[in-house]
Amino acid sequence: MAAINDFVSYETQGTVGIVTINNPPVNALSQAVRAGIKGGIAAAVADDSVTAVVLACAGRTFIAGADITEFGKPPLDPALQDVIPIIEASSKPVVAAIHGTALGGGLETALGCHYRVANPGARLGLPEVKLGILPGAGGTQRLPRVVGVPMALEMITSGNPIGAKKALSVGLVDKIIETDLTEGAIAFAKQIVEEGRPLVKISEQNGKLEEARKNPSLFDDFRKSIARKARNFEAPENCIKAVQASVELPFAEGIKRERELFMELMVGEQAKAQQYFFFSERLANKIPDVPKDTPLIDIKSAGIVGAGTMGGGIAMNFLQAGIPVTIVETSQEALDKGIGIIKKNYAATVSKGRLSQEAMDKNMSLLSGSTELEDLKDVDIVIEAIFENMEVKKEIFGKLDKICKPGSILATNTSTLDINEIGAATSRPEYVIGLHFFSPANVMKLLEEVRTDKTSATVMATCMALAKKIGKVPAMVGVCEGFVGNRMLAKRGEQAGQLILEGAKVEDVDRVLYDFGFPMGPFAMSDLAGNDVGWRIRQGKGVTSPVADAICELGRFGQKTGDGYYHYAKGSRTPEPDPIVEDIIVKAARDAGINRRQVSDEEILKRCIYPMINEAAKILEEGIATRASDIDVIWVYGYGWPVYRGGPMRYADHIGLKNIYDDMLKFKAEHGDNWTPAPLLEKLAKEGKGFKDL
Ligand code: CAA
Repeated sequence: MAAINDFVSYETQGTVGIVTINNPPVNALSQAVRAGIKGGIAAAVADDSVTAVVLACAGRTFIAGADITEFGKPPLDPALQDVIPIIEASSKPVVAAIHGTALGGGLETALGCHYRVANPGARLGLPEVKLGILPGAGGTQRLPRVVGVPMALEMITSGNPIGAKKALSVGLVDKIIETDLTEGAIAFAKQIVEEGRPLVKISEQNGKLEEARKNPSLFDDFRKSIARKARNFEAPENCIKAVQASVELPFAEGIKRERELFMELMVGEQAKAQQYFFFSERLANKIPDVPKDTPLIDIKSAGIVGAGTMGGGIAMNFLQAGIPVTIVETSQEALDKGIGIIKKNYAATVSKGRLSQEAMDKNMSLLSGSTELEDLKDVDIVIEAIFENMEVKKEIFGKLDKICKPGSILATNTSTLDINEIGAATSRPEYVIGLHFFSPANVMKLLEEVRTDKTSATVMATCMALAKKIGKVPAMVGVCEGFVGNRMLAKRGEQAGQLILEGAKVEDVDRVLYDFGFPMGPFAMSDLAGNDVGWRIRQGKGVTSPVADAICELGRFGQKTGDGYYHYAKGSRTPEPDPIVEDIIVKAARDAGINRRQVSDEEILKRCIYPMINEAAKILEEGIATRASDIDVIWVYGYGWPVYRGGPMRYADHIGLKNIYDDMLKFKAEHGDNWTPAPLLEKLAKEGKGFKDL
């Protein structure tokens, strides 16, 4: 085997030359890899002993894309968009041998090859849109030429990969190799030569574009179909324009257009924020005082206490991952109801065609119910998901401690209570942890994990790995009221409530936050979650909130009662402003001696967002969150913070901490000490720094 460079090698097997990329962990297309591919192809073309070439990867995956760490730095030659045409122009057929994931520039490289083979587990996709950009090395021009325009639009604007079987059915791969991939690819390459099959240059194939040429309205129809999902994002529109160029322009012109549209995005703030977020999500997996090689507990079974909405949703995550669950309720009736809801949820997914009946049956077969905590004695982890009452939780944890085998993890889904205290009710506080799922628990990606003063490294490492296994994105935080997410959310809620008293309309506050990019504003969210939830918490704490309380006293609990901060017509989820609510607000303002006034959209936004950022600064100072980017992960995945703004910390840095600090002082002068900047915010602002510098 000859080294082309440190990352790419060239060897021959009979008449086939094999170019192998070895750049762990994901064979990203760094400069050296691009140069190596170019060198490898040149070596094969110049090698008279070979008649065909296989492009393969060592390690766990085919090329997973451009090296994202090179983004934002001066470009280094050779560019990928110059290497791919070299592959396509090879006088000998080049076969890509795909295993793991062929993503982004990886799939674009494969599309430059004349043929593609894959093993059955391979996944292929163009996820650039998730990084705020578009496939910039010919992907938007070549993919539609292979799979047709509708499918290319879907793949490029969603960024979601497809599996090998599907790829075969749409012509994206030519063969699935069930045995050794490289051997199979070599055999396939030889076969091509023997059969005299052509060098398929995708750039020259126009057949699949014909249908779209006859139906140009296809693009506007597609725009409409993704409008809601793509709201405020810049990249999907450029993706559509680029695919449109593949239909309207000759290939070479289309490539130029793709580059322009790519560059437009690459220099934008959204792309930077989304790329920042990609690394933030991965960084959140790392806990500084938990070494990488910490031994893990093998979680082969789970128990859940409480078959309510949360408990049921949590169970579904485990079932989906193939982990058997025993769910425990106090009465058979409650248990049957909870299991019935899980079944109904799965059945709804089956009827939408997003889950097979077979998969549903398999999931349900992994679920068992019980009314006895004793039935949890052998499980590896228990997650308690009952109502928020410290005494009851302590009693349950005391019992679980005695019932569960030594070494099993005892977790609580509490969103408010002190988990140190819960842990102290057991003889194994080092096995106690908070696993805070977000509602609906089978859908929301975030898992806020809460370490106590005693939680062991093994338990933390196990729960971080477990999150990934059940399809969640974890972030580890410490104990405090509301932990990270809800503690910040409370600050936003306070201001939203204050703003409507001062004169902003409920629908104005919601509109400003919706336009900012949240899926909905705070009042619409409260109506969705149920206004009675907060009411009960306030009653428990003996605190009042005039408007919110008055709304609940009228039985306006939100969508479920047809009225809340808004009115909802029968069977509708569309919020309609309600004069009754405005009257309640006007009266409450009068009682509080507040002179109502016009409140600008800018003030609404700053007053909702800045207190959250200020609270986050305190959270960082207290060491409750490890790093600012973890807070961003929590807000994007748990609360729908728009990912194209990176998260609240990244947004704060974008606005500039000095600007935020100055505004905080102005608001303090008008509204009092609530607006005192956190010491960390003040320090960073005065030093001209951002959270990124911590
Ligand atoms: N560039 C640089 N580093 C990358 C990377 C990339 N494209 N993809 C992954 N990594 C790094 C991760 O940051 C992580 O690093 P640490 O171990 O230091 O945290 C490591 O590789 C492993 O990644 P994951 O933890 O994500 O591993 P996984 O097995 O769960 O997932 C994966 C593997 C599916 C490939 C996933 O990493 C992924 O989705 N990567 C991004 C793929 C992507 O977006 N490609 C398109 C790039 S843009 C492009 O290609 C533009 C173009 O057209 C020119």
